[in-house]
Amino acid sequence: MVIYKAKDYQDMSRKAANIISAQIIMKPNCVLGLATGSSPVGTYKQLIEWYKKGDLDFSQVTSVNLDEYKGLSPENDQSYRYFMNTNLFDHVNIDKTRTFVPDGLEADSAKACNDYNAVIRKQGGVDLQLLGLGHNGHIGFNEPGAAFEKETHCVDLTESTIEANKRFFESEDDVPRQAYTMGIKNIMQAKKILVVVSGEDKADILKEVLYGPITPKVPASILQLHNDVTIVADEAALSKIDM
Ligand code: GLP
Repeated sequence: MVIYKAKDYQDMSRKAANIISAQIIMKPNCVLGLATGSSPVGTYKQLIEWYKKGDLDFSQVTSVNLDEYKGLSPENDQSYRYFMNTNLFDHVNIDKTRTFVPDGLEADSAKACNDYNAVIRKQGGVDLQLLGLGHNGHIGFNEPGAAFEKETHCVDLTESTIEANKRFFESEDDVPRQAYTMGIKNIMQAKKILVVVSGEDKADILKEVLYGPITPKVPASILQLHNDVTIVADEAALSKIDM
C-alpha cells in the first residue's frame, strides 16, 4: 500500500487525477471503476481540465460505477448516474454507451445485481478502481457488516449513511433507503485501487482502515489485503497517523 500525503483537497484531487491520467495514457482502452460522493469531485474537475487542454483522451475508456440508489431514475438529480453525467461524462469525450451504473429503476433486485455483475465481467474486469471512504468505513455502499465475499447486491442503507447523505436531498424522507452496490469481492478484483480521502472528519476512520484489524465492521479494512492500493489523503485526513 502506498500513501501519498496531499496538502489539501485540491492537492489531493490533482494527485489522484494524475494517477488516473497515467492509467488512461498507458492503456487507452482501460476500464475505470468510478465513485460518487464529494471526495472525487475535484479529481473529476481536474481530469476535465486536462481533457480540455488536449492532454487526455477518453474515447476508448469504459467505466463502471460502484453504486446507485434503488428507485432513482437517471434523470433524478440525486441519482449517481446524474452525478456522473454532470461531474464528468458530459464534459469529456467518453462514449456514454460504455459508461455503466447499476440500474436504479430495476425493481427486481436480483436481476439488477446479476445484470451488473455480468456487465463488469464482460468488460474483463476493472483496471483502476477509484474509491471514496464513508465515515463508517464503507466503500461503495458496503456498510459495516457486509460480507467480504459478496458481489453486486442490494443494501439497506444505515442511519449514519442516510444522515450523511441527506444534505443532498430536500428532506431526510427523500433519501432512498436502499441501494445497489458492487460488493467487496468486485472491488477487490480490480487490478489497482485508488482511494481519495479528505478532511479531519475522516481521520479516525482512515487510521482504522489502514492500521486496524481487518474486519467486516470496517469494510474498507479489507483493502489492506489488496496488493496494489494507493491512498491519496490530505493532511487533515492523515492527522491521526504518524508518517
Ligand atoms: C456515499 C457513496 C460512497 C462514498 C461515500 C463518501 O455513501 N456511496 O461511494 O465514498 O458516500 O462520500 P463523501 O466522499 O461525500 O464523503
